[in-house]
Amino acid sequence: MLTDKQWTIAVLGGTGKEGKGLASRWAKAGLSVVIGSRNADRAKETATEINAAKPPLSVTGDNNLKATQTAEIVVLSVPYSAHRETLDTIKSAMQGKILVDVTVPLVPPKVTKVQMPPAGSAALEAREILGDAAEIASAFQNISYEHLQGNGEIGCDVLVTGTSKETRAVALELVAKAGLNGWDAGPLENSMVAEGLTSVLIHINKVYGSTHAGIRITGVANKNKPSQEISN
Ligand SMILES: NC(=O)c1ccc[n+]([C@@H]2O[C@H](COP(=O)([O-])OP(=O)(O)OC[C@H]3O[C@@H](n4cnc5c(N)ncnc54)[C@H](OP(=O)(O)O)[C@@H]3O)[C@@H](O)[C@H]2O)c1
Repeated sequence: MLTDKQWTIAVLGGTGKEGKGLASRWAKAGLSVVIGSRNADRAKETATEINAAKPPLSVTGDNNLKATQTAEIVVLSVPYSAHRETLDTIKSAMQGKILVDVTVPLVPPKVTKVQMPPAGSAALEAREILGDAAEIASAFQNISYEHLQGNGEIGCDVLVTGTSKETRAVALELVAKAGLNGWDAGPLENSMVAEGLTSVLIHINKVYGSTHAGIRITGVANKNKPSQEISN
């Protein structure tokens, strides 16, 4: 569906570690990608870097608002401290679009401790800020950028939550296009679990001297044939 519709995906914070990894994977999968940044020149530099792949790619770059205006799907991958400010910048251009929030509400220096914002999670805060203007999904919080920027197998699943099952279906397609295994994890209220798991994984990495702790959903025999219709 994503390729058929020729949708454009804006990756805000795509100049950074996680966003660059996602943008690069989607561009390699044939999707139309624009990098968003607070600084258009920085976005263009990152696009040029990604485009140097073999075979060459055609990612573009612009400031966050213009990148949002050109896209149907907007992926938000910025530090939590920049989350509200970035959403305020793009709010006027989000009508009828889908936001995929990657943000984890980490509060340094205690990043191994779950510290959800008053809204309940970063994704729920995004819904408060954007109101009904956009559909919102939440995904990728448990995937390290080192995995995304590498070519090896990624031993971690992606939990996808969202404001409707249609929105989650679009985000699950993005997960698959990035070469990852995604799960419909329910309504956006459940995003606090995926966001919180990141602190748990960082803690496990510290305790056990690892860098790539991840999660796998087990016990589901027939993933491609969900047996129960859900309403939202
Ligand atoms: N890194 C990981 O492995 C990982 C894994 C899972 C989830 N996440 C989550 O994904 C999000 C992005 O993580 P990241 O590691 O990619 O972050 P990052 O590299 O530190 O920053 C990403 C981009 O955010 C933009 N940004 C906007 N306002 C900012 C501000 N006030 N301070 C700093 N940067 C600002 C910057 O782009 P411009 O300067 O170009 O605007 C920067 O390149 C975070 O919420 C993180 O928790 C990260």
